[in-house]
Amino acid sequence: MADITFLGHAGFLLQTQTHSIAIDPFLTGNPLAKVKPDAIKCDYILLTHGHGDHVGDTVAIAKNNNATVIANYEIATWCERQGLTAHAMHIGGAFNFPFGKVKLTIAHHGSGFDTGDEMIYMGNPAGALITVEDKTIYHAGDTGLFYDMKLIGEMNDIALALLPIGDNFTMGIDDAVKAVEFLSAKLAVPMHYKTFDIIDVNPDEFIRKVGSIGKEARILQVGESISL
Ligand code: NI
Ligand code: MN
Repeated sequence: MADITFLGHAGFLLQTQTHSIAIDPFLTGNPLAKVKPDAIKCDYILLTHGHGDHVGDTVAIAKNNNATVIANYEIATWCERQGLTAHAMHIGGAFNFPFGKVKLTIAHHGSGFDTGDEMIYMGNPAGALITVEDKTIYHAGDTGLFYDMKLIGEMNDIALALLPIGDNFTMGIDDAVKAVEFLSAKLAVPMHYKTFDIIDVNPDEFIRKVGSIGKEARILQVGESISL
């Protein structure tokens, strides 16, 4: 059994029987976050892209835990330059880690990291298919709707889809509902909303609209977990 806890925004903590994987751990500066970076215990950190609201507290958390960062080649190289251990991957590639399998998927978005002085190139943004204990979780990353989600759904039995709904930077609600249909996901959980005023959409509308196409979605409160 795997437990997934919502950390707020696009951040989740995935816990298997043996390992803990933090995904896009943006806590410092996240008005909805309920835990401090020091509270995160993990073996791996999976990053979808290089934006600050996804890289977040990666450097501190990785150092605290001696955790390995899994990300695209450009982000992995940057992490190594910060003194971290990283495993570089790229879109379309899968790798079997001790906790399970990760495959990076496309995502239509940007990926630059703003240091305050310059914008560092962080490769292409990605989503991730994470298979742990025979259950596949799809974290879409930040993305607009794309038709290949249909292919992702055909080739994978998705137990849980984590989908951005906040609009402006990513899919909005109606596109995310279409994504649930394309993915044939058993359960969808909305993310990347409410953190900032510009993405303050009502997740109840997403739940209702997903229900109207005969699919299931549920809201995870920050700090709340579900078991797969
Ligand atoms: Ni982004
Ligand atoms: Mn984002």
